[in-house]
Amino acid sequence: MSGAHLWRGILEEYADRMPVTADTPVVTLREGGTPLIHSEELSERTGCEVHLKFDGSNPTGSFKDRGMTVAISKAKEAGAQAVICASTGNTSASAAAYAGKAGMTCGVVVPKGKIALGKLAQALVHGAKVIQIDGNFDEALILSRELADAYPVELVNSVNPYRIDGQRTGAWEICDQLGSAPDVHVMPVGNAGNITAYWRGYQEYSADGVTDRLPVMRGYQAAGAAPLVLGHPVEQPQTIATAIRIGNPASWQPAVDAAAESGGSIRSVTDREIIAAFRLIARHGVFAEMASAASVAGLLQLHEAGEIEPGQRIVCVLTGHGLKDPEWAISGAAEPVTIPADRDAAARELGLEA
Ligand code: F0G
Repeated sequence: MSGAHLWRGILEEYADRMPVTADTPVVTLREGGTPLIHSEELSERTGCEVHLKFDGSNPTGSFKDRGMTVAISKAKEAGAQAVICASTGNTSASAAAYAGKAGMTCGVVVPKGKIALGKLAQALVHGAKVIQIDGNFDEALILSRELADAYPVELVNSVNPYRIDGQRTGAWEICDQLGSAPDVHVMPVGNAGNITAYWRGYQEYSADGVTDRLPVMRGYQAAGAAPLVLGHPVEQPQTIATAIRIGNPASWQPAVDAAAESGGSIRSVTDREIIAAFRLIARHGVFAEMASAASVAGLLQLHEAGEIEPGQRIVCVLTGHGLKDPEWAISGAAEPVTIPADRDAAARELGLEA
């Protein structure tokens, strides 16, 4: 025996904490088990121990897979033939992939022209029926809920409790990887399901004595799409971070409760702060999407405001992979040079001397 352990996906790794039985047909792409990456750069800047939980390395490139494996497995167990979701892109990519694996029909409703091309490609390649609307995510979610109420189709947005069940595993992995919960947990907030799930996950591990502490939860919305910060829905949410371009989050109250109960907050970061954070972590090897960078932007904002004590252990969640939306990476980066296929010409470009 080599002693190697190959990660089996969250439903099997955390079976005792999951709503599955021997009769549940597990639909998995072996999601979860994502890296917790120590960030030298952010640790140095803040005087803390900062880790990045890179959920962009899930099978479809975002944290949505954690919830989708549960939602689709339970839908299959219940005999559903079809699933539907509204999405800013990642949920649709994940639903399409897991429905494809399960042999189910998948419909996705997305705001036209407002989802990253890579995410649209994923939904299409996995065989989902993509419906675009001249409207935003909030309207797409209303439509999807109405559809699921009136027709035999299972809604797999995070208003489906199985999604939240699965997404709790992010918190458990962080505790398992660190030996306890961090002091501060920083993450982007859109429809607010993920912050709800993380807080539940931490609370359960704490109640069971698996972690000796609970983190302070710090959620970040984009400034142009910050209903939880303003205290009222935003009719026309605007941000370059299209994944979190949401004006009326479905998990509003649990998200606000998570921040309050943990002694934390939900605040906003500007698009400018998001881009700066995106570039910073990318330069240090981690390519996350814009919405994900809101967590790092939030950490830097906390640090600049003097609200972070040195020496704390901090986790920033990076929810999705940067490759989903390369447009932002390329714009603002240096143009590649073109030279003849010549050794010395290449050396000159690289500033090398013989
Ligand atoms: N980060 C990314 C990359 C996302 O795709 C989302 C949500 C969030 C953060 C926010 O998470 O909604 O649980 O607060 N994307 C959803 C979607 C809305 O349709 O893909 P949340």
